[in-house]
Amino acid sequence: MSLTFAIIKPDAVANGHTGKIIDRIIQEKFIIRGLKQVKMTQTVAEAFYEVHRERPFFSDLTRFMSSGKSIVLVLEKENAVNAWRELIGATNPLQADANTIRKLFAENMSKNAVHGSDSAENAQKEIAFFFTNQDIITNG
Ligand code: CMP
Repeated sequence: MSLTFAIIKPDAVANGHTGKIIDRIIQEKFIIRGLKQVKMTQTVAEAFYEVHRERPFFSDLTRFMSSGKSIVLVLEKENAVNAWRELIGATNPLQADANTIRKLFAENMSKNAVHGSDSAENAQKEIAFFFTNQDIITNG
């Protein structure tokens, strides 16, 4: 079993999709090890997405991610990083497979409903960015 990090982004929260996305997470047999709501400041969003700082979409991305509440989660499953990425689908919802979370709930490439770590190493960093060890329940 391994961990990944997920965000239900401000568009999905504002559009009332939080419950449906969490229900799908449970249905797909992920174990929720950590969960909280956060309202990122732009500075926090910039730090989280630091690797994208030079990309043309950086300022739109960080403005959007700080525009409202998000839900951050630590998810456990076998091969969690890949399993979550498969479940959420392609970054661009137009290219996402049928029944993926982004196909169902994303509006476009920026307002794309959810985030998922792209590697186990980044999952560890992203989890540590938002969660302390005490926030993560590994035995329940
Ligand atoms: P996420 O999985 O959160 O990781 C980085 C985010 O940057 C990505 O989802 C998209 O929301 C956003 N992103 C990536 N590429 C583009 C792009 N070409 N235009 C706008 N936003 C993008």
